[in-house]
Amino acid sequence: MLIGRIKENFPSHMFIGEESVAVGEKCDLTNDPTWIVDPVDGTMNFVHSFPHSCIALAVLYHKDVHIGIIYNPILEQMYTAKCNQGAFLNDKPIRVSEETDLSKSLVIAEFGTNRDTQKMESVLKNVSALMNKVHGLRAMGSAALNMASVAAGGADSYFEFGIHVWDIAAGALIIKEAGGVCLDTEGPLDLMSRRMICASSEKLALQIIPLLDQLKLERD
Ligand code: IPD
Repeated sequence: MLIGRIKENFPSHMFIGEESVAVGEKCDLTNDPTWIVDPVDGTMNFVHSFPHSCIALAVLYHKDVHIGIIYNPILEQMYTAKCNQGAFLNDKPIRVSEETDLSKSLVIAEFGTNRDTQKMESVLKNVSALMNKVHGLRAMGSAALNMASVAAGGADSYFEFGIHVWDIAAGALIIKEAGGVCLDTEGPLDLMSRRMICASSEKLALQIIPLLDQLKLERD
C-alpha cells in the first residue's frame, strides 16, 4: 500500500522493501532516489501484541539518507529526521544521552529471529562478553525502535549482526540528527553490510566493538 501510493507521486523513484525482497525483488541500492520501506519492523512483537513494533521508512539519494521516519502506531510515537534539520519524537526535538562510560550504559543487544546455530552462538557470546561490563542489557525486538530509543536517550547503544538495510536506514539518520553515531562494526556505516552499532558517542561505540564476535554474513 505504501509503495503503491508513493509511486503514484514519484513514478521514477526506486524502492527497496522487506516484503518486496521476500517475494524475489532485487535489493539493489543505486544513486537514484530510493525509498526503503519496512512495513512491520518487530514482526514477532506484533504477532504477540507486545506493543513494540513500527513502520520504518527512509528516503535516500546518492545512497545518503535524507529523510527517516519510524512510527509505532500502537503507542503513537513518531520519530522523524530530515538531513541537517534535527531529530524529533512527535514533533519535539530529541537528543542522545551524554553517556560515554560503558559501565554506566544501557546497551541493546538484540537476539534476532534467525535460529541458525552459528548466529545463536554469536549472540550468546556477545551477551556474555558484555553482561558484566555494562549497567544493563536489553533486547526489545525491533531494530528500528531500538535505534529510535538510542536517538531519544533512553538507551546508550544498540548493535546487531544480521539486520537488513530496511531495519536500519531510517534509524541511521534519526541517530545522526540526534547527535549520535552509527557505524559498521568494521568501519564507517555500510547500510548493506548486515551489521551495525549505534551509540550516543563514538567513544562509547569504540568501547563495545572490540568485545563483539564479528559474525560474517552475506551482504544485502
Ligand atoms: C527484525 C527485528 C528484530 C531484529 C531482526 C529484524 P522484522 O525485523 O527488527 O528486532 O533483531 O534482525 O530482522 O523481521 O520484524 O522486520
